[in-house]
Amino acid sequence: MSKSYNIAVIPGDGTGPEVVREGKKVLSAVAAKFGFKLNYEEFDFGGDRYLRTGEVLPDSASEQLKKFDSIFLGAIGHPDVKPGILEKGILLKLRFDLDQYINLRPIKLYPGVATPLKDKGPEHIDYVVVRENTGDLYTGIGGVSMKGTPHEVAVQNMVYTRMQVERCLRYAFEYTRKRKKKNTLALCGKTNVLTYVYDLWERAFHEIGKADYPEIIREYYHVDATCMWMVKNPEWFDVIVTGNMFGDIITDLGAITQGGMGIAAGGNINPEGVSMFEPIGGSAPKYTGKNVINPLASISCGALMLDHLGEEKAARAIENAIMDVTANKLKDMGAGRMGYSTTEVGDLVAERI
Ligand code: IPM
Ligand code: MN
Repeated sequence: MSKSYNIAVIPGDGTGPEVVREGKKVLSAVAAKFGFKLNYEEFDFGGDRYLRTGEVLPDSASEQLKKFDSIFLGAIGHPDVKPGILEKGILLKLRFDLDQYINLRPIKLYPGVATPLKDKGPEHIDYVVVRENTGDLYTGIGGVSMKGTPHEVAVQNMVYTRMQVERCLRYAFEYTRKRKKKNTLALCGKTNVLTYVYDLWERAFHEIGKADYPEIIREYYHVDATCMWMVKNPEWFDVIVTGNMFGDIITDLGAITQGGMGIAAGGNINPEGVSMFEPIGGSAPKYTGKNVINPLASISCGALMLDHLGEEKAARAIENAIMDVTANKLKDMGAGRMGYSTTEVGDLVAERI
């Protein structure tokens, strides 16, 4: 019997459903070719549902989603909903409830895609950021007092446990080993100022590396310097591991160097549980329903998802098809400037599978 995977699909808001449709189109093509089955079940979580029902996420959602092999997400974010409600109530809540403690963000410049980095090409921009995804400033620990007065005080704490740091570092070391590129893992921190949190990261990094991954070269960069080198010498990097907040910031910098919103994909990974794959572009409300948005990020998410599910060959086939399309077909990666519609780009990639 052929293998089959149960996938929860959350098309979400704005252009989410349009890009998810193309992602699924390519996934179907690759599943047929490599002989496995994908069973989809859709969930309507997002801004529209919230405006209609007043409920951001039903209590049962996380438990329901835990039963799937993976989650395929479009976009969350609605122009009529105050910023923060959906992001916290859906995206961050699922990351925490499902303990998706890794945010995996490949930074890869595909051939034919323009980068704002001068004199850099696909041979220079190909690395992966492993961002810790459950701790740090994102835990919501802190508080506010005397709000609205001149004495207002606001505190938001950077929080890490040894366990959180260790499991993230182990994932990053394993990933670097499996990637077999430069065998180099760089810790991105701020040990000169954040002498508690990043001291914990640095000690754990070297202890674990020395004991269990002696063949992996360990490097360390402060976060501010990391930003400089990501622009000036991106070819230095293989895998970067960092905390949640620094990871959020540097991955957007990375995304723009790989061609931006239309391209960048990410995985929220629980190596022992259910993972969720999302294009990082957001819901792009002004392009909704126009069939002009670039679906390559969602299609890339499909590759990331299959790679995580163990269908590595199928994942590579998607990536190769994407690269053929970016190198030979698309004029530009921006909405409305690709020379093809959203559905046509999906067709082009699917045909190449
Ligand atoms: C990301 C996003 C989210 C984050 C927001 C939308 C909560 O920026 O996935 O990088 O900060 O993690
Ligand atoms: Mn972000």
